[in-house]
Amino acid sequence: MAVSVDQILRWKQTGQPTQPMAVLTAWDVMSAQIVDGAGADIVLVGDSLAMVALGYDTTLPLTLDDMLICAKAVRRGVKHALLVVDLPFLSYQTSGEDAIRTAGRMLKEAGAQAVKLEGGHSEVVETVRRLVQWGIPVMGHVGLTPQSVNQLGGFRKQGKTEAEADRILTEAQALERVGAFAIVLEHIPSDLARDITKALSIPTIGIGAGGYCDGQVLVTADVLGLSAWQPPFAKVYANLRQQAVAAAQQFCEEVRSGQYPA
Ligand code: KIV
Repeated sequence: MAVSVDQILRWKQTGQPTQPMAVLTAWDVMSAQIVDGAGADIVLVGDSLAMVALGYDTTLPLTLDDMLICAKAVRRGVKHALLVVDLPFLSYQTSGEDAIRTAGRMLKEAGAQAVKLEGGHSEVVETVRRLVQWGIPVMGHVGLTPQSVNQLGGFRKQGKTEAEADRILTEAQALERVGAFAIVLEHIPSDLARDITKALSIPTIGIGAGGYCDGQVLVTADVLGLSAWQPPFAKVYANLRQQAVAAAQQFCEEVRSGQYPA
């Protein structure tokens, strides 16, 4: 049976199952089939695809149309996991109406079951409240929020001072209050992630946030060793880029030497 938002919430609230949830990203049908087939509980069409699949330096240039194309392709490959889609930069910040329209398109056109958006200041919280009121499940995202990279001065760890840590905890609590069903905690100290996880009754999903979260997420291109660069907290489980280059080189050599076709 396919994973539902309700199941994700109950996971934390009942403590069953007891193991952390596993979340992976996807950007096209092949990556979706791979991570869904591997048993991920949630597949996230993260806007990191702007960097890993489209070659941009940040997530900012990604458009709503780019995201819809990728999300629809991922939908065709996901049969079991909960499908969550990121709202691209400036597709939801401009007004509550824009947020509803954008999130609505993700559900109506791409078949997403939930959307994720970044930040926890009062305007984001108000947007989440409106989306949830209209029946659109929302995953929050605090700590390092890559759409604010220019303001943060790079993809740096957040929450290192007491004031920052307090702010991030307060943001997570506010997102929970208005109905977010889960929250990504990105690149923050593990003690802070532990405190947030304890304080919330919705699941926390960590990335570079230590081992105390209710779940863990990584960008699949990093896990598979496909991306040219991986963040310091990523674990690389395979070296597919190297293997792919070697296979492509062998093909080129065999064509040139007449070995292929046999
Ligand atoms: O865009 C993304 O892939 C994400 C994850 C890193 C959580 O937001």
